[in-house]
Amino acid sequence: MKTILITGGTGLLGKGMEETLPPGWRVWSLHQRPYRVKGSRAKQMVLDIRDRRAVDRLFAKTRFDAVIHAAGIASVDYVETHYAESLESNIVGTLNVTSACRRSGTYLVYISTNAVFDGKKPPYREDGPLAPVNKYGRLKVECERLVSETLTGFSIARPILMYGWNHPVCRPNTATWTYDQLRRGKRMNVVDDVFENPLYNRQAGRALWALARRKPRGIFHLAGKDTVSRYEFARAVARAFGLDASLITPVRSSFFKGIAPRPSNTSFVTARMRKVLGVAPMSLAEGLRDMTASL
Ligand SMILES: NC(=O)c1ccc[n+]([C@@H]2O[C@H](COP(=O)([O-])OP(=O)(O)OC[C@H]3O[C@@H](n4cnc5c(N)ncnc54)[C@H](OP(=O)(O)O)[C@@H]3O)[C@@H](O)[C@H]2O)c1
Repeated sequence: MKTILITGGTGLLGKGMEETLPPGWRVWSLHQRPYRVKGSRAKQMVLDIRDRRAVDRLFAKTRFDAVIHAAGIASVDYVETHYAESLESNIVGTLNVTSACRRSGTYLVYISTNAVFDGKKPPYREDGPLAPVNKYGRLKVECERLVSETLTGFSIARPILMYGWNHPVCRPNTATWTYDQLRRGKRMNVVDDVFENPLYNRQAGRALWALARRKPRGIFHLAGKDTVSRYEFARAVARAFGLDASLITPVRSSFFKGIAPRPSNTSFVTARMRKVLGVAPMSLAEGLRDMTASL
């Protein structure tokens, strides 16, 4: 059996990996708050990646065949308003995990984001110009550098807006948030000027397993087939779950005051994901159908 460590394994991405676990692998998963996720097949640990000694002890005790480093503060708006705390989780935490991988010679997949781009010249290939428009994106660019300049065995996976069923302990995503609001008959304002090709978390899982197995070098864009605005996405969720789409009102980004700036269109080219990892992008309808089937 091979052993993989997923930092932030209880998050949406980690859950997608656990649900697509291939034979021959076992999962060790860490998160920071004191809870346990029921029904998980992973060995769960509570460990704060900001704690260098705790990270070093873990790597001294166990030899991992690969590490997926997804832990950190992933909310764009939270990073914008809690920058010092985010520096510790996202930069110090990444430094600790990267150093442990370097010393033990462990292959690392660093989880970055589409927020490394300014959204002005879509669709983006992996070598597109880095120009983040918010603090979250800037921290991710720094972490990409840290990983690529200090490790030899690594890849960087950039997921774009992810959706799927999350563990209730973790934050909701565009699909689950829309589903919850509409189910309760609540009206929603959703922006129609921010575009992505949303990524189903189980498709992300399959792509990340391919990275862990094949251990290629470089950057990989992970995204779905359809580029849609957030408003179109919310309407697709309403359709898939048979909910009332007339409760959703399209608004411009300027409608929401005081939130972090968002790049307008960061949709990805997914040719590398298809060719090197053998993973086909799923359509939004396919991903949402899978969600409704596992309700
Ligand atoms: N979701 C998206 O749409 C999206 C898009 C692009 C990129 N990404 C990137 O993908 C990665 C995973 O995102 P996600 O949506 O799965 O995240 P998530 O659902 O917000 O979960 C975050 C995970 O990280 C853990 N964590 C946070 N700080 C930690 C710390 N200091 N020590 C240990 N664990 C810590 C959390 O543990 P607790 O629950 O204990 O706090 C949780 O398990 C992130 O790096 C994110 O930036 C996400």
